[in-house]
Order: sequence, then C-alpha cells, then structure tokens
Amino acid sequence: MSRRRVLMVASEAYPLAKAGGLADYVSGLAKALFREGCDVKILLPAYPSALAAIKGPISRFRVDGLDEFGAVSLIAGRTPGDVGAWLVDCPSLYARDGDPYQDADGKDWPDNARRFALLNRVGALLATGNGPLSWRPDLVHLNDWPTGPLAAMLKLANAPVPRTVFVIHNMAFLGLCAADVLPLLGLPGEVLGESGLEFYGHVSFLKAGLSYADRVVTVSESYAQEILAPEFGCGLDGALRARGDRIIGIRNGVDYDEWDSRVDNRIAAGYGAHDLAGKALCRAELEQHFGLRPRRDVPIFAYISRLTHQKMADVLVAAAPEIVRQGAQLAILGRGDRDIERALCELSRQFDDEVIVRPGYDESAAHRLLAGADALLAPARFEPCGLIQIYALRYGTLPIVSRVGGLKETVVDADPETLAAGTATGFMFDDRCLAGLLGAVERALAVYRDRKRWRAMMRNAIGRDFSWQRAVTRYLELYDDMAPVAAERRVSAPVTKVGDDANVVYLGNLAAASD
Ligand code: ADP
Ligand code: GLC
Repeated sequence: MSRRRVLMVASEAYPLAKAGGLADYVSGLAKALFREGCDVKILLPAYPSALAAIKGPISRFRVDGLDEFGAVSLIAGRTPGDVGAWLVDCPSLYARDGDPYQDADGKDWPDNARRFALLNRVGALLATGNGPLSWRPDLVHLNDWPTGPLAAMLKLANAPVPRTVFVIHNMAFLGLCAADVLPLLGLPGEVLGESGLEFYGHVSFLKAGLSYADRVVTVSESYAQEILAPEFGCGLDGALRARGDRIIGIRNGVDYDEWDSRVDNRIAAGYGAHDLAGKALCRAELEQHFGLRPRRDVPIFAYISRLTHQKMADVLVAAAPEIVRQGAQLAILGRGDRDIERALCELSRQFDDEVIVRPGYDESAAHRLLAGADALLAPARFEPCGLIQIYALRYGTLPIVSRVGGLKETVVDADPETLAAGTATGFMFDDRCLAGLLGAVERALAVYRDRKRWRAMMRNAIGRDFSWQRAVTRYLELYDDMAPVAAERRVSAPVTKVGDDANVVYLGNLAAASD
C-alpha cells in the first residue's frame, strides 16, 4: 500500500502556535502518524510565531484564485519535530501580535471569519489538487470550528475529493458569524438551513464540520457520550444525535518527548518513579524563582490553565483563601478572563508568599510548575479530554479533577479500595462547584499527611502510560474504514436550543471586516 497522505488542517500546532491543548494534539498526533509511515502535512496560518519556528528547507508558492483575500502564498517547511508544515501567508490577516484568535488584550479579532475562511479555502485548493503543489491528500483531518467549512467545501465539490475527518476538541466554541461569509467560503446558499451549517440565523463553522464531514470524532469516549445531551451539546446535541453512530470517541494521547519528568530539560532536575529525589530540587527551584515561601510540610498546589468558565477559574478564585487556610500553598499560571486575572493577582497580594500568580502564557513556566508542585488543580465544568492532568501524572503531581469528560477517564480517584489496590492516582469530585472542589482538596490534604501513601500514589501516577500509540492505532483504523463513505448521503442536522454554558465565538461582521 502506498504511504497514506494526510492533510492536517488546524489553527494551532506546537511549537508554531499555541493557545491550549489543541496545539499539543496536532503536533503530537501528526508526529505519531508520521512515525507510523504516514505522509503528514500540517496546514496552519502563517502567524508570526509560526514563521519564526518553521524549519527549512523553506519554499514559497504563490496561491492564485483567492483575490478577495489579497496576496496569498504558501510557505512549505517542516516543524521542529520534522513533520511537513505548510503556512498560509497573508500578512494583512495573520501578521499581528496576539494569539491565534485574540489580540494582546484578550479580544477576539473582529475579522476571524475572514482569517479562517482563507485557511479553509487554501485547504480546499490543496485537497482538490488545484493548489500550487502537486501533492494531494488521501485524507483531510480537520480540527475544531476554524476548519469546519472545509468539510462542506469538499462534500459539495464537483470533483473527486479526499475523505474528511472532523475532530471536535471543544463544542463550546461554535464559530458563529453572519451569513454573508458564504461567498468568502465559496459555498452556495443551499448550505444554509437546519441540515447545513445554519445556527439560529447565523453560520456556525463548527456545525459545518459536524454536518458535512465523513466522520466526526471527539477527543475522549466520555465526551462523545456527554455531548449527545443538552447539558454539554451547546445547542448542537440534536445535530450530533442525527449523526448517530458516526461520532467516535478517541481519547487523546500525550507526547512524552515533551512532557516527561525524566527527559524534560526545562526543569531543575530529572526524576522518575524509582528516583524521586529530583522532584525536591524542582520544588526548591519553584519556591526560589516564583517566590513561594519554603515550608517543608505544606504541599504546593499548581493551577496551569486558560482562565475560563470551562476551567472553573471563577471557582478557583473563591476557593483560594480556604485552600490556603486548610494548609496548602498555591502557584497559579493563567491567561484568559481579565477580571479573573485581576482577582487572582489581588489574592497573591493578600496572601503574599503563600499564593503566587503568574498572569499570562509561559510554556517553560508550565513545565517547571508541573515538576515543582505536589498536586495539580484541574477542575472543569466540562472537559473534552484535558491534557494537563495527564502531563501532571507523569510528573508525579497528583491531579485534583472533576468527574467529567476526559478527566474521569485518565485519573483514578483515591478511595479506600484504589488506595489498597495501589491504583489511585488523584482526587475526583462530582459537584462542579466550590464545595465539590474544596471537598477534594480536603481529601488530598489528608492523604498528603501520610507521606508513604502519597509517595505510593506518585509512583502509580508516573507509571501510567497515555502515549499516542493507542489513539494513533484507532485513527489509522478509522482512516482505513472510510473508503465506503463516499457513496453515503449527507445527514440532516437539526438544531436545538443553545445551552446556558455555550461559550460562543462570534467571528465578527464580515462586511465591516472587509471594509
Ligand atoms: P485546554 O486545551 O482546554 O486549554 P488541555 O489540558 O488540553 O486544556 O491543554 C492545555 C495546554 O495548554 C497544556 O499544554 C498547558 O500546559 C497549556 N497551558 C494552559 N495555560 C497555560 C499558560 N498560562 N501558560 C503556559 N501553558 C499553558
Ligand atoms: C480542547 C479541550 C481539551 C482537549 C484539547 C485537545 O482545548 O478543551 O479538553 O484536551 O482540546 O484535544
């Protein structure tokens, strides 16, 4: 069989551009597929960070036929992990400070619809063999709302097209914009309507992926079930149910080349399950450089996250004084909601060297906090998979998580049975509220006082294996299984009410954006 060619289209890929776990997923899975013999190309906007990180040899190709976006070119190179990377270059859309979605003040770019429409259009050119390169994929792997319309473009293309897999990393981001985006996407008016990409009078980029991709995947088995109900379906649970058995849960793997305390060169000292000495050095480094008061018998709880409703950042603010009172120190690294950032900074002033807060995004600090802390607070109101708690396990930093989504699949709650069996790796709570979190913190502190028990849990945690192998095998099976899909007809996808928790991304007004 010839090498399978996969076009991986995304808005993030580590280390080219990262806002969260999506970047780690794209680079980790692409690398794992590459190691399995696939010819993978990651297609990403040419953000300044991506242009700075891409490796040579680099070639640039002009992209014709997209005049409505201005001058567009494609830069071909490789990621530092040696996977093929293609960057869509259009400086008027991408050459900006900020992250893939927002400016430096945390506001969504007003022209996000146009920015990601271009990514989809270039993806369609490449997938149909009309781009500047002769390479054509067998399969197009799409990730989250920024890439959803490409599934529609290919389904409606009047040409032989590759199969599409659409991966939902987070249902809460619907990618909404006005219907006047359609000409920019090159899509006909017929895609509007309940069975298409319409969502209450708007276009939803996410729904485009759900409605038109040949296969829909989510990033854990639990989340695949959860999103079929209104509580987690963000108004699209009806559309998801309509797809029936074609929504598949494949839990993410993690890249242990990047996230393993034995080999991590960002941390003060390496350590593993049978040699935990290095962890004490990492803790000392954390105390010294982050300004936490050294206190021998008090555990450090880290929180490393986007500061959002999803991650219960508001609950963390409310819980912090009580966590300190119960006898823990807090080390917080986060970027997101500006009010929450301010509230956390206020807490760090109030509790001086018992609570430290680093507002912002800092990749290296994330590794050092994981290594130096004793436990990781990773509460979430919903969690499609969650990678940070899986990383924490490998650093012997016991996760405290809510029983939801990928969190409940990757952490084993410490109860008398799992403690006796030597399988416990963390602490889980059911009620996703202040009392629930504080209850789990109290249980963690009780075990921490029994150091022998805590160390046994650390060793269990470090020993768990969540490498990409299992997931990549499932993706390859899925790719293989897709050949007969071409003849299938598109399913209809009715909309239902928007859930209260829907964290809608509104992509802006196209007319205004194009002025
Ligand atoms: P999500 O993708 O929902 O944010 P994940 O747990 O899947 O959650 O992935 C989070 C990723 O983002 C991890 O790699 C984590 O280290 C990183 N991260 C989150 N916030 C920050 C931050 N403020 N600074 C550095 N890294 C961060
Ligand atoms: C999203 C989800 C997170 C998941 C990540 C990678 O950001 O919120 O749960 O781990 O994508 O799939």
